[in-house]
Amino acid sequence: MRLPCVSDAANTDKRGILLEFPPFLMGIRIIMTAQILDGKALALALRAGFRDRVAALGARGRRPGLAVILVGEDAASQVYVNNKVKACEEAGLHSEKLVYPATVAPAVVLEKIAALNVNPEVHGILVQLPLPAHFDEAAVLEAIAPTKDVDGFHAENVGALAQGKPRFIPCTPYGVMKMLAHGQVDLAGKEAVVIGRSNIVGKPMSLLLINAGATVTVCNSKTRDLAAHTRRADILVAAVGKPRFVTGNMVKPGAVVIDVGINRLPPEEGGKLCGDVDFDAAKAVAALITPVPGGVGPMTIAMLLANTIEAAEREIGQ
Ligand code: GUN
Repeated sequence: MRLPCVSDAANTDKRGILLEFPPFLMGIRIIMTAQILDGKALALALRAGFRDRVAALGARGRRPGLAVILVGEDAASQVYVNNKVKACEEAGLHSEKLVYPATVAPAVVLEKIAALNVNPEVHGILVQLPLPAHFDEAAVLEAIAPTKDVDGFHAENVGALAQGKPRFIPCTPYGVMKMLAHGQVDLAGKEAVVIGRSNIVGKPMSLLLINAGATVTVCNSKTRDLAAHTRRADILVAAVGKPRFVTGNMVKPGAVVIDVGINRLPPEEGGKLCGDVDFDAAKAVAALITPVPGGVGPMTIAMLLANTIEAAEREIGQ
């Protein structure tokens, strides 16, 4: 099934004002309210399904294991890492959290990665990014065995994804693709616009959309006349890291809006979490939209579990 949208029914302008057809509705503004793509509920459902896979591995004497490395005291990274370790525990996975001070020598972390690469209890290794400035991030990611690279950030795995033969799909864009599939969003031939060009989200997201047959434009916060691009988007993915950067008039009526941003508003604005999209304004224009919190965030963790379980399954050829 495909979700209906205003632009199917009639020719509208960028605010949703009908311009032509059907004649009896001429000049009448259609206020849309998008359906919510609930990532929290979908992640819970996926995680329930993981139990059987973990049990099947257990029956063959295997317990999937994830090692998470955190360097430094970045508050947001600490929260993300704790959430990942907690999710492992809840799903019955073995997990190891390795924390180093920001001043640690890169050689110490590289040595630890080398040990984890040959540790049979560990099927997935994740180094939380960003790393402190004195680290060569690429060198650290390349030190992870590609078969344990559950983040999909190793150059070998990035190349495999670019060729349309992914080994591990980076967790956040993987979660977005699952949400789009769940929302029965047909991607072939659609205009997709990604705002953000990071290695973690923007680039792998654009590769996945290309592989799915979409026509993909990758923008960034400095793109000239950004709104002209975003207003063409049937699927708009915001991964720019700026609170409410995408306003309602940047959204095409009937679009699918995916908000990857997780930003903390300053105390004078309430201190709450908000996305890269002005949710209330975009919701009035879009057909489908992800909330923040409760959208892409929980899906990222679910897909990390999926990749780790898959790594363990592959090891025994399951
Ligand atoms: N920092 C922000 N998102 C991510 C992620 O998905 N993986 C890692 N390793 N670091 C991150």
